[in-house]
Amino acid sequence: MALLTICDQNRTFNDEQEIRDCLMKLGIDYERWPTSERVAPDASAENILEAYANEIDKLKAIGGYATADVIDVDPDTPGLEEMLARFDREHWHDEDEVRFIISGNGIFHVHGQSGEVIAIEVSAGDLIRVPRGTLHWFNLCADRRIRAIRLFQDKSGWTPHYTESRVDRNYMPICFGRQQAPNISVEKAQT
Ligand SMILES: [Fe+2]
Repeated sequence: MALLTICDQNRTFNDEQEIRDCLMKLGIDYERWPTSERVAPDASAENILEAYANEIDKLKAIGGYATADVIDVDPDTPGLEEMLARFDREHWHDEDEVRFIISGNGIFHVHGQSGEVIAIEVSAGDLIRVPRGTLHWFNLCADRRIRAIRLFQDKSGWTPHYTESRVDRNYMPICFGRQQAPNISVEKAQT
């Protein structure tokens, strides 16, 4: 279950409908899909894609996505730091960023058109669909592990375009987890 923070207001939400409503204002779709009851999180990529074939087909029809794959990252992934460094700076894509989290955790920051910055901590069962052109950046959580289904209209469109705004440096990529949600607030780093 995701955890959403409106960073500059230190307001945090862990209610599914509130998260959906808040993200919708930014043009971002958020859904919950079944997880462990559908397929084991360590199943093969092929089995995972098969288990979610219905949901994937619906998204393909809605968003024009042509392909789906499973990305698997853990602390032993070769080149992990270089990979993460491509996406932890504010950027956008010519392609929607569509992720369904199988296991692990990550945190998206989204920079809305009216200037607000939203942090969305995602975990197993979360589907997030960030429209092309949306300013955002991404970090892994402390476990540095994530497994997710990705959908693409055209993989070449997923190249990051950097804004070089450095706005990302003002927000700490701290993951809290749902169990700690009710009383926490995200401290804005004054760098
Ligand atoms: Fe991205």
